[in-house]
Amino acid sequence: MLKVCLLLLLLTSLVAAQRSTNRTRLWQTLHGNAPLVIARGGFSGQFPDSSDFSYSMALNISIDNLIIWCDVQLTSDGAGICLPDLRLDNSTNVGVVFKNKQKKYLVNGVPMEGWFSVDFSLSELANVTLIQGVLSRINRFDESQLQILTVEDVSQKYQPPGLWLNIQHDAFFSQHNLSMRKFVDYASRKVKVDYISSPEVNFLRSISTQFKPRKTKIVFRFLGQDDIEPSTNQTYGSLLKKLTFVKSFASGILVPKSYIWPVDGNLYLQPHTSVALDAHKEGLEVFASDFANDVPFAYNFSYDPVAECLSFIDNGNFSVDGVLSDFPVTPSLAIDCFSHLDGDGSGHAKPLVISREGASGDYPGCTDLAYAKAISDGVDILDCPVQMTKDGIPFCLASINLMDGTTVAQSPFSNRTTTIPELQTDNGIFSFSLTWSQIQSLKPAISNPEMEYSLFRNPKFRYSGKLLTLSEFLALTNNATSVSGVLIGVENASYLAEKQGLSVTDAVLDALSRAGYRNKTDKRTMILSSNSSVLKNIKKRSNYELVYEVDENIRDALNSAAMEIKEFAHSVVINKDSIFPRNAAYLTGATDVVPKLQASNLSVYVQLFSNEIQSQAWDFFSDPYLEINTFVERAQVNGVITDFPATATRYRRNRCLGLGDKTPPYMNPVEPGSLFQYIRPQPPAEAPNPVLTDSDVIEPPLPSVVKPSTNGTGNNGPATEAPTPPNGQHKVVLHIFLSTLAILLSTLQLLL
Ligand SMILES: *[C@@H]1O[C@H](CO)[C@@H](O)[C@H](O)[C@H]1NC(C)=O
Ligand SMILES: *[C@@H]1O[C@H](CO)[C@@H](O)[C@H](O)[C@H]1NC(C)=O
Ligand SMILES: *[C@@H]1O[C@H](CO)[C@@H](O)[C@H](O)[C@H]1NC(C)=O
Ligand SMILES: *[C@@H]1O[C@H](CO)[C@@H](O)[C@H](O)[C@H]1NC(C)=O
Ligand SMILES: *[C@@H]1O[C@H](CO)[C@@H](O)[C@H](O)[C@H]1NC(C)=O
Ligand SMILES: *[C@@H]1O[C@H](CO)[C@@H](O)[C@H](O)[C@H]1NC(C)=O
Ligand SMILES: *[C@@H]1O[C@H](CO)[C@@H](O)[C@H](O)[C@H]1NC(C)=O
Ligand SMILES: *[C@@H]1O[C@H](CO)[C@@H](O)[C@H](O)[C@H]1NC(C)=O
Ligand SMILES: *[C@@H]1O[C@H](CO)[C@@H](O)[C@H](O)[C@H]1NC(C)=O
Ligand SMILES: *[C@@H]1O[C@H](CO)[C@@H](O)[C@H](O)[C@H]1NC(C)=O
Ligand SMILES: *[C@@H]1O[C@H](CO)[C@@H](O)[C@H](O)[C@H]1NC(C)=O
Ligand SMILES: *[C@@H]1O[C@H](CO)[C@@H](O)[C@H](O)[C@H]1NC(C)=O
Repeated sequence: MLKVCLLLLLLTSLVAAQRSTNRTRLWQTLHGNAPLVIARGGFSGQFPDSSDFSYSMALNISIDNLIIWCDVQLTSDGAGICLPDLRLDNSTNVGVVFKNKQKKYLVNGVPMEGWFSVDFSLSELANVTLIQGVLSRINRFDESQLQILTVEDVSQKYQPPGLWLNIQHDAFFSQHNLSMRKFVDYASRKVKVDYISSPEVNFLRSISTQFKPRKTKIVFRFLGQDDIEPSTNQTYGSLLKKLTFVKSFASGILVPKSYIWPVDGNLYLQPHTSVALDAHKEGLEVFASDFANDVPFAYNFSYDPVAECLSFIDNGNFSVDGVLSDFPVTPSLAIDCFSHLDGDGSGHAKPLVISREGASGDYPGCTDLAYAKAISDGVDILDCPVQMTKDGIPFCLASINLMDGTTVAQSPFSNRTTTIPELQTDNGIFSFSLTWSQIQSLKPAISNPEMEYSLFRNPKFRYSGKLLTLSEFLALTNNATSVSGVLIGVENASYLAEKQGLSVTDAVLDALSRAGYRNKTDKRTMILSSNSSVLKNIKKRSNYELVYEVDENIRDALNSAAMEIKEFAHSVVINKDSIFPRNAAYLTGATDVVPKLQASNLSVYVQLFSNEIQSQAWDFFSDPYLEINTFVERAQVNGVITDFPATATRYRRNRCLGLGDKTPPYMNPVEPGSLFQYIRPQPPAEAPNPVLTDSDVIEPPLPSVVKPSTNGTGNNGPATEAPTPPNGQHKVVLHIFLSTLAILLSTLQLLL
């Protein structure tokens, strides 16, 4: 018998060893098991809390041994229903069905108003349906007629691997002559209850002898450090120092994640506390709550929710025993695919990871800081979008308009504003209006593409770093042995030649050859442009790898267009929407653009992958790894362009790739359109994207360089001054306003 067990053990570890190099390493949890994933109300981050959709989706897409969490409320007839709050108003349409049934009650001494579960019998709630209770979340499933579920419903219908009942209120129900103690006793006879948690000491003490810890574990839930625990009259903060007492009635604790990794007032992570280690010393399991991908978490994680989770389960010093999340797919990935990866090397070759302005999600784009971070993140191809200075020096910056990446609007050069319709409709301060030394005096500014959702990037470094000339960039890349190549962006070449007397193609080729990137060297050298003439021009003069950017969204590409591109380029950059078009932020389907282009032997790189959830379709469950995985595994793209290269290179190292039909659900690509069909009301169809044709690709040849007739210092060639922007040009005004706001805010921060 023992031998059989040993053999089995050996076999299992062999299988585990095959799946990853080091799966057998012990977790630093209390008992050495992998931490648990607890789905709060199911997949409550995306679907109405405690609904059929939410529970079903959580189970479909999470780790095998998922624990389903139900917040139990009692109805007037003593039924236990799963709903996130005592009051039903936010999570159901009760206010519509029962217009005048709201009441006012004291809850732990605090007056509260609303529709309370204790005022309705279970049958009265038959017509009440579940809705999204959190205003900031999508509410497109509110009209799906999702019923309220009882604890028995959840257990019987979904048969979850584990069931966790949270009893947030016992004292309140007692005041209404309803007994939670009786309910959990009854429930645990009817269904398998694995965990019972509560923030009320008396309740847990009253049931602690009733349950065998092997069958049902009792967990004490900590609320805010300064909140008062109703039965002891002590703050949760002070109870944290009495873990021996807690151990007398519980086998574990559930704490807000900030108890373990506190953040400061500016949302930066502080050193971890000893809470997890202290609790483990006491023999208590530790569960951490409040994980959600759509609520800002510490900037230190660069909006990567897997990175945040890993800091709780794989930090080298301790692991919590479980995480309570509204997005259970993310901790499932973190635990099964991404933990203990160190030493696993770079794993998979796909996809090629190309930066966008360096690690511009973390630092101002194209600065030394952004490039250094991208290199340490393991980027393959470091990018430099080239702009030209007035004195003819090529340097790296995303936009020809300095207002987009620097503080020029607040500098002494703010009066250099011009309107140049060939470049953009709004006015700007253009790179060729300033010399390199003037540009060096500007502060680079971080980009905040999701500012309208109040999602900012690394504000501590908002204005930091220094810009690099193309030559400095090439020297830096030459030094970085882990970087396999560079991507040099060339835009506006015709305008610069004709109107500013600047040849950007000459400048780029010259810098490359002077830096030793003469034709193809050991570093892969890629030249990117959305103008075919630029690539044709460079093709004649070098044998660099040429990359054509299709800057508009397309739904298809003619074979003749792909063949035309092949004449002057080796690869193509397209937008995400050209592969999976979206409507109302849901994917509606998939195009054939990638196979069409690949059939002409063109590699396909896709932009832009960012970690902020607003940049992703909802189908990816607000997890950047699901998005990358779907583009790589389903669309078979060759490379990704990202402003968060750490996430893309981490994706490539995960151990759940290449498992064939053993691939866990969270590492399977999502099915485009599968969620869209459920949303109500259905949004109107959007105008289809155009088809890429030969004529889209063909451009007039580059003009020859014309020296501008003027030689003035302030004014620039044919550019016209634009003292006041004409009506309708909100963008610049907004820009200046926001920059001013930023200065105000940073001044405030200094004062505080
Ligand atoms: C696996 O983990 C052990 C213990 O931490 C370590 O000694 C060993 O080098 C690791 N092996 C690999 C392949 O990473
Ligand atoms: C979960 O999977 C089951 C079985 O495949 C399916 O019937 C159900 O519709 C899925 N749930 C959701 C919300 O997609
Ligand atoms: C409902 O939501 C609002 C706004 O988010 C919140 O202030 C209120 O406390 C919530 N009420 C309940 C019963 O959850
Ligand atoms: C639910 O709605 C139906 C149809 O409007 C009605 O006949 C029924 O009485 C309602 N049930 C409850 C419990 O209110
Ligand atoms: C609870 O029961 C007691 C004794 O039967 C009664 O006096 C009290 O009114 C009841 N309270 C409620 C809220 O029903
Ligand atoms: C809790 O404290 C309040 C005031 O500090 C006191 O009135 C009350 O009796 C105390 N309750 C218990 C259970 O100790
Ligand atoms: C989080 O980032 C800030 C700013 O970069 C840094 O000062 C702090 O030490 C970081 N926190 C941790 C725990 O590393
Ligand atoms: C782990 O503990 C060591 C020594 O106690 C400490 O130096 C290190 O910073 C800790 N690491 C983390 C991630 O907390
Ligand atoms: C490249 O590396 C050399 C030697 O380590 C160093 O002296 C030089 O400053 C580096 N250059 C750049 C641009 O980082
Ligand atoms: C670089 O490539 C061009 C075009 O293929 C060729 O004419 C030139 O001789 C090459 N230069 C070097 C140094 O190999
Ligand atoms: C530059 O232009 C000014 C008048 O605009 C003229 O006086 C001057 O000679 C010019 N300088 C050169 C070098 O052409
Ligand atoms: C812009 O302002 C500076 C002083 O801040 C002044 O020296 C310069 O002449 C001005 N240039 C233009 C074109 O108005």
